[in-house]
Amino acid sequence: MKIIMLGAPGAGKGTQAKKIAAKYDIPHISTGDIFRANIKNGTELGRKAKTYMDQGLLVPDELVVDLVVDRVNQEDCADGYVLDGFPRTIPQAEALTKALAELGQKMDYAIDVNVPDENIVNRMSGRRACVGCGATYHMVYAPTKKEGICDTCGGELILRDDDKPETVQKRLNVYHDQTQPLIDYYTKEGILRTVDGTVDIDDVFQAIVEILGA
Ligand code: AP5
Ligand code: MG
Repeated sequence: MKIIMLGAPGAGKGTQAKKIAAKYDIPHISTGDIFRANIKNGTELGRKAKTYMDQGLLVPDELVVDLVVDRVNQEDCADGYVLDGFPRTIPQAEALTKALAELGQKMDYAIDVNVPDENIVNRMSGRRACVGCGATYHMVYAPTKKEGICDTCGGELILRDDDKPETVQKRLNVYHDQTQPLIDYYTKEGILRTVDGTVDIDDVFQAIVEILGA
């Protein structure tokens, strides 16, 4: 099963993608996580990506597309995967469709996690990310057992640089401008499904499972 997660920054794409990956035993591929790992490891790609990410801007398509196409061609993706944060522009979507068509494949579902802008800023200010393993929590909606400490690896939790309110607003503008057109794109492809992302994390997941099948 090949799935794309769509939705505004902070809609819950990553939260739901992890649950989908665990239930259906497929890899979770997050371009944001890949960039953050590269930044942490001080790679050339990380250095380039950081200049855009810190401003709330998208990383240029040419730095993203090959990376994802290579990743989905790896062996562990043979039975499917869940893409989180990619595609994010029409050219990225077209490049993905083309690369898959060359292999005689296509995506099965594009799931839009729908959350209005007014809910987003509040969510982002409460999000905390682990510096060690990248796990994501929320101070109110998905708290850790011990405050400030990752449940998974014991790492320290921080507010992501791009989760400061002024950057979140910029990311929302970029989303409406460059990413929202993908809703039309995947509606035309016949694979768009929408879930209400404002309800509890487990209820959002339940709605997704109903779409994907048990
Ligand atoms: P990326 O890491 O993908 O960030 P994003 O799309 O802005 O999305 P987020 O990760 O912020 O939100 P999410 O939807 O995953 O929400 P989450 O589950 O964490 O990208 C970062 C940057 O990298 C981009 O700005 C760009 O610069 C660059 N980039 C990445 N991919 C790119 C691409 N393809 N092309 C170009 N540039 C690219 O949830 C948010 C919070 O809410 C959490 O705290 C969570 O616990 C909580 N929460 C989740 N669900 C619920 C719920 N139902 N109720 C209450 N709280 C909830
Ligand atoms: Mg995410």
